[in-house]
Amino acid sequence: MRVVSTSSLPIDLVAQIGAAFPGARVEVPAGHTGLPADLADADAVICLLHDRIDAALFARAPHLRVVANCAVGIDNIDLAAAVAAGCAIANTPDVLTEATAELAFVLALAVARRVGEGERLVRSGAWTGWALDQLLGVSLTGKLAGIVGMGRIGQAMARRCRSFGMTVVYADPHEVTRWERRSLDDLFATADLISLHCPLTDETRHVVDRRRLARCRSSAILVNTARGACVDEAALCDALEAGRLFGAGLDVYQGEPRISPRLLECPRLVLAPHIGSATTEARTQMAQLCADAVIAVLSGRTPSNLVRSRG
Ligand code: DGY
Repeated sequence: MRVVSTSSLPIDLVAQIGAAFPGARVEVPAGHTGLPADLADADAVICLLHDRIDAALFARAPHLRVVANCAVGIDNIDLAAAVAAGCAIANTPDVLTEATAELAFVLALAVARRVGEGERLVRSGAWTGWALDQLLGVSLTGKLAGIVGMGRIGQAMARRCRSFGMTVVYADPHEVTRWERRSLDDLFATADLISLHCPLTDETRHVVDRRRLARCRSSAILVNTARGACVDEAALCDALEAGRLFGAGLDVYQGEPRISPRLLECPRLVLAPHIGSATTEARTQMAQLCADAVIAVLSGRTPSNLVRSRG
């Protein structure tokens, strides 16, 4: 039996797999090396969100029985190809929900209160002291929060918004009880804070586009901790440069880790390096869920975090 991880992990995978399957070969690199060229006899792979799992991968790994993606988002995985190859897919729901919602709220507050600009001012040595009109932000309290994608993380963000005295509405193809649903267009036209928590699919690619940005309030804040391709970054830069939004906070980028030079120059933009789930607690539990899924599938059991294909 051979189990391959494309990255180092905050758990002892070698010990855990060895205890479950004495004699198994377990490969865990230092850092992230990506998928090895030779997967001909691999039974299980633990991968990261930038490892592409598609038909070509399954063709060169004919014995693969499970891929555990150390992320909740699975847009790096061709689910139809996995079904065709008879390979189970697992991800890491729940354990990163609160961490990701925390970061979304951090970005919302950082944009609203212009923390990034303030920090740069202090560090530059150019701060001349308190002034009545210095770096005026906006308050979130009493405002309308619009959550795009009301799954686990969207609801965790909604709870944070409500605890800050915000009214919460959401847009999602599925009805979620106890929260008020709006159409996407209505949400974009009315919300003071728009926070993206949807998976990246054909429907949500560029869900934030030029047309919807043109409908936003000029006092609105956009936060994206979902996937970079949910936002048309060129349209966002145009909107920020023209002052058609108050600001935006991004944790994810189209084509990351490459970042569009325009984003780096944009006013009122707070940028984070895809750290939504980056707490020691969440990352350790994510890795553990992956190990559990591998052990379950290779033992003939169904893992709790099995991704079920809609097809
Ligand atoms: C995910 O899980 O999809 C995040 O983007 C990384 O934690």
